[in-house]
Amino acid sequence: MRPSESSVDTREFVRQLAEENRAFWRDRDVRLEPVAPREVLERQLRYRMRQGVYNELRAAELIAAWIPSVREREIRELLPRQLDDEQRHYQLLRRRLLDRGEDPDGYEPLPEWEALFDWLVAARSRPTIEKLAMFQFAGETQSCEGFETLIRLAEPIDPETAELYRAQILPDEYRHAAIGRHALLVLADTPEIRARAAEAGREMNRRVAEAYASHRRRADRGG
Ligand SMILES: [Fe+2]
Ligand SMILES: [Fe+2]
Repeated sequence: MRPSESSVDTREFVRQLAEENRAFWRDRDVRLEPVAPREVLERQLRYRMRQGVYNELRAAELIAAWIPSVREREIRELLPRQLDDEQRHYQLLRRRLLDRGEDPDGYEPLPEWEALFDWLVAARSRPTIEKLAMFQFAGETQSCEGFETLIRLAEPIDPETAELYRAQILPDEYRHAAIGRHALLVLADTPEIRARAAEAGREMNRRVAEAYASHRRRADRGG
């Protein structure tokens, strides 16, 4: 069967939006500094793990908040597994910090990072496609990139942590990003909906990029 005009347009839209995201993020994730002295990198990695515990917990919270408002059955049925993954990631990272002799619960989130998750939780009332364009498509795609960098830089410093991210977290995060892509392919079937989805993704990217710069400043101070 020949794909309909609209499905061709939708695939092209998703391809272009993915490209736009990649272009936006080129050199914008400033959280880790590849050429930093070892102790700086160690501090940045430690900060990322502590922040990661918070992120995974909030990710679980926001997916739980969104599920009741996602009416599209084939999207909704993908979300409980994601919720389960985020909860497991939270526990894995928490356990790893404890094994390193660190306090996983003493991390105070940056106000702007906390506000980002509060904004995402409150987005439960927005259309499904906007929510998934924001978190799964834009946010989780960027976090896969971020984890790839983290794994590469953690390898020589803390191989066990690098392996935890590589084997037990990253594969799930790629699947979460794919849920976002799938939602766009299924739901972005008119120019108006595509425009709203693209704008929602851009809004997410802008907010995340602003917060990354504050995270870096704090990690470098030893936060
Ligand atoms: Fe996760
Ligand atoms: Fe995720």
